[in-house]
Amino acid sequence: MISENKINIAIDGAAATGKSTLAKRLAKELYYIYVDTGAMYRAVTYFALKKNSFSNILQLDQLLKSLPDLKIEFKSTAKGQIIFLNGEDISNAIRYPEINLHVSTLASNAEIRKFLVIQQQQIALNKGVVMDGRDIGTVVLPHAECKFFLKATSEIRAQRRYEEQQKAGIDESYHSVLQNVLHRDRLDATRDISPLKKAFDAFEIDVTKLTIDEVFEKMREYLISLGIITF
Ligand code: DC
Repeated sequence: MISENKINIAIDGAAATGKSTLAKRLAKELYYIYVDTGAMYRAVTYFALKKNSFSNILQLDQLLKSLPDLKIEFKSTAKGQIIFLNGEDISNAIRYPEINLHVSTLASNAEIRKFLVIQQQQIALNKGVVMDGRDIGTVVLPHAECKFFLKATSEIRAQRRYEEQQKAGIDESYHSVLQNVLHRDRLDATRDISPLKKAFDAFEIDVTKLTIDEVFEKMREYLISLGIITF
């Protein structure tokens, strides 16, 4: 796929709608940079847990004071994208259930959001970025030339997350994954700041009954219809 002039592509949606798989694939085809903003909120959560040796989470005021000490970096490798926190590869650790348990609460904090949104906007300054998250089309990149919003039932999303975790060797029951998905949906959609919401100009895709290939094809068609991308 070729994009004559580089653009920014925003992909928003609830947990386990396939956002990151699709964003990675789009970025690869277009030779764009992929930015997983959920991983950034997870990195902050990892930091807050690590500070207390993973026994409990750091007090919020202490965490907020420590934010300037956090250096989050992405690196593309043959194995895929790696995320570093202050030089430590945390790519696997941020997917653990302990992180899932706390991340939505920290993601509802205005100061943490501001700290990360500024970094996300800086990464996208030169265009050529595919960014996924919850507020990319509405808050982070409201002027993105292309926006997607993915939705699916909570049961199918929990099933997908459960299978992903099993493959990664994370042992959590389907029931527990579903409860966590429902809990995070509630927090993400009802928080005061930047709740999960479709941007008015986003192209919505219900992925419940579609395979990843079928969703990707819809995205490709939409990009062509915008006249920005040629193949
Ligand atoms: O996509 P994910 O499951 O890795 O996201 C982790 C958490 O971070 C999830 O609770 C939603 C939150 N998040 C957010 O509030 N805003 C974003 N742009 C990305 C993620």
